[in-house]
Amino acid sequence: MKTLIKREEWTDKDGLTFTLGRAFIQDRPQIEEMYDGPHGDASFQGLPPPGPEARCAWITHLVEGAVTICAWLQGKVVGHASLFVDPEKRDAEFLLFVAQPFRNRGIGTRLTLMALDCARELSLERVWLTVEMYNFRAASVFEKCGFVLSDRSGGERTMILEV
Ligand SMILES: CC(C)(COP(=O)(O)OP(=O)(O)OC[C@H]1O[C@@H](n2cnc3c(N)ncnc32)[C@H](O)[C@@H]1OP(=O)(O)O)[C@@H](O)C(=O)NCCC(=O)NCCS
Repeated sequence: MKTLIKREEWTDKDGLTFTLGRAFIQDRPQIEEMYDGPHGDASFQGLPPPGPEARCAWITHLVEGAVTICAWLQGKVVGHASLFVDPEKRDAEFLLFVAQPFRNRGIGTRLTLMALDCARELSLERVWLTVEMYNFRAASVFEKCGFVLSDRSGGERTMILEV
């Protein structure tokens, strides 16, 4: 899926400058490095999948099957937002991850807004996600970006944004 999203620089409140933009297959090793690193805390909602083969396939899918926007600091990936597009339904499941030391700087919000620009560009009708009930930080990012609660069950909320 082609998008016109360009890479852009963004400086946070502490003066750190991040690059944000679409990730492609050549960015795969850096995403893997982030998840394999000490701050990948590889266990949010069971992702990324445990086991080297499943993890490898999942990360490849992020950059080849999904539309993935990354945040880089000095060439290292520190977070990503991914849209798993269903062309028939004209919707996408959304996933967001920021490595622990870089949270609460606004990266998650910026990645989400950029991914929603991609969703508009792809003429999707809606973007949806599931988030654990007590993940208040994530829910606050999603609400701020326009997602609304659609369902609560099994310890998770489903949130939807009509594009
Ligand atoms: C969810 C996540 C991506 C947020 O990334 P982030 O870069 O920290 O997000 P931001 O800095 O843009 O915004 C965080 C917001 O949460 C708020 N926040 C932080 N802790 C909070 C809490 N306990 N309760 C409510 N809001 C909280 C912050 O104040 C900030 O809002 P503000 O910008 O209006 O002040 C990150 O925490 C993460 O990767 N978590 C693990 C993966 C995950 O849970 N993903 C979501 C499911 S797809």
